[in-house]
Amino acid sequence: MQHLIASATGLSDRVTETRTLSLYSKKTVLRAEQNVNDKLPLASNTPLKKQEESRLPDQARLFGNVQFIYELILAGLELRSLGAVFEMTDEFSSFRLLDVEDDERLKRQLAYFETVRGENTDYAYISRKNRTRSVNQYLTHWIYPYKGKFHPQLARAALNIIGLAPGDTVLDPFVGSGTTALEAQLLGVNCVGFDASPLCVLQSRVKTASHEVIDKIRERCAELPKGNAANTSLHEASSTMSANTDQRVADFFRLAQLVALSDSVRRRKDAAAALASKTELMVQSVADYDQIRKDLGLTLGRATIERGDARTLPVQDNSIDGIVTSPPYSIALDYIKNDAHALRALGLDTSEIREQFIGLRGPTKDRVRLYDDDIMRCLDEMMRVLKPNKYALIVIGNAVFGGTSLQSAELITKHAGEIGLHLTRSVDKTIFGLYNVMQREKVLIFKKDDEST
Ligand SMILES: C[S@@+](CC[C@H](N)C(=O)[O-])C[C@H]1O[C@@H](n2cnc3c(N)ncnc32)[C@H](O)[C@@H]1O
Repeated sequence: MQHLIASATGLSDRVTETRTLSLYSKKTVLRAEQNVNDKLPLASNTPLKKQEESRLPDQARLFGNVQFIYELILAGLELRSLGAVFEMTDEFSSFRLLDVEDDERLKRQLAYFETVRGENTDYAYISRKNRTRSVNQYLTHWIYPYKGKFHPQLARAALNIIGLAPGDTVLDPFVGSGTTALEAQLLGVNCVGFDASPLCVLQSRVKTASHEVIDKIRERCAELPKGNAANTSLHEASSTMSANTDQRVADFFRLAQLVALSDSVRRRKDAAAALASKTELMVQSVADYDQIRKDLGLTLGRATIERGDARTLPVQDNSIDGIVTSPPYSIALDYIKNDAHALRALGLDTSEIREQFIGLRGPTKDRVRLYDDDIMRCLDEMMRVLKPNKYALIVIGNAVFGGTSLQSAELITKHAGEIGLHLTRSVDKTIFGLYNVMQREKVLIFKKDDEST
């Protein structure tokens, strides 16, 4: 709760204030009134028992991990976008449904809600298929420790908020670790994803395609000797793949090696032991994906992931139904340095790749200016490929450089407006991270103007 209070007020948690968030007008009402000194119970993470739920026939109940104001706002936005009229209940743990177009659709798609009228949402089942200790790293999301990932729940909500339906196509021009691609796939939305980094392309493909070849992956694992010898053989399994090995199987074992390598570099673990344990965990997670697909009867979206440059996308004009993405936060994170060991293991020249990375290219003194030029070119591309009247949701943070906050969010908003992507919503995602270091981020939602207007 302290996080909620802190992010709402920007002040310490001892401030007494009644806060009213009037987020929507007229038809849809989300009014969150709260004395900020109250200790409010958070929703339990376990589904409520049937008899308790039967007392809540008109409610959509939030997950227990929903704790920030921005999450409540996004929860309200996805609910509205999926055709519900609602009001917030006093405890902040659920929304009262006043009018709903399609209950089933809510259950199938919602991201921030654990139950609808007492019944689990699909996401309640999906997010429990988790082999890690981190709440949001369910199914194959955890595979590869990539810095700067989206929160999968946010990505799922984003897809709902911008009105994407099964069969539509979403673009993520900075696909990174594949969070948007995987969440789109689960919702039946096709995803076209690009990244300048071959490592990102590999991990995004493995996360979204391995379930299609789970039997072949298992077969190959079974052929490997057990015990200590397994470590060497796994290494061999990927390095000696024959030319006719299914590319998805080869990618899986290649990534397993890189996951183990990263684990041993970052945690100073024994590489061979890491390889065996990580591969096993990866197989289990892929199997979980396949199982949940069957259990929930999901029709998965198609994920197409390619290496590419967000400044010049190989995508047709006016062909994309929505964009969900997060570009590099100016020059904040050196992605190449972070993943240098893996990129080298893939046999890549890191200095060559660096020149394609926005926020990393050029001499230090020119980097911010080059980033600003590049991000505007990326927006031009998003505008070009998006269909008229469709939405682009961009998560961006203002990095600090030399003591000053770089105004990337403001630059993006200004340039977008100039080219015909007008801002329909801006949600402040300021949160407190470890050691109370504030992270300033924004969720910006743009709509492409209809050329005829
Ligand atoms: C903030 S991360 C995206 C993280 C992603 N949303 C996720 O959940 O993993 C930004 C990504 O932009 C990529 N990138 C940098 N320059 C690029 C360019 N010119 N074209 C495409 N991708 C680029 C980086 O490799 C990085 O993966």
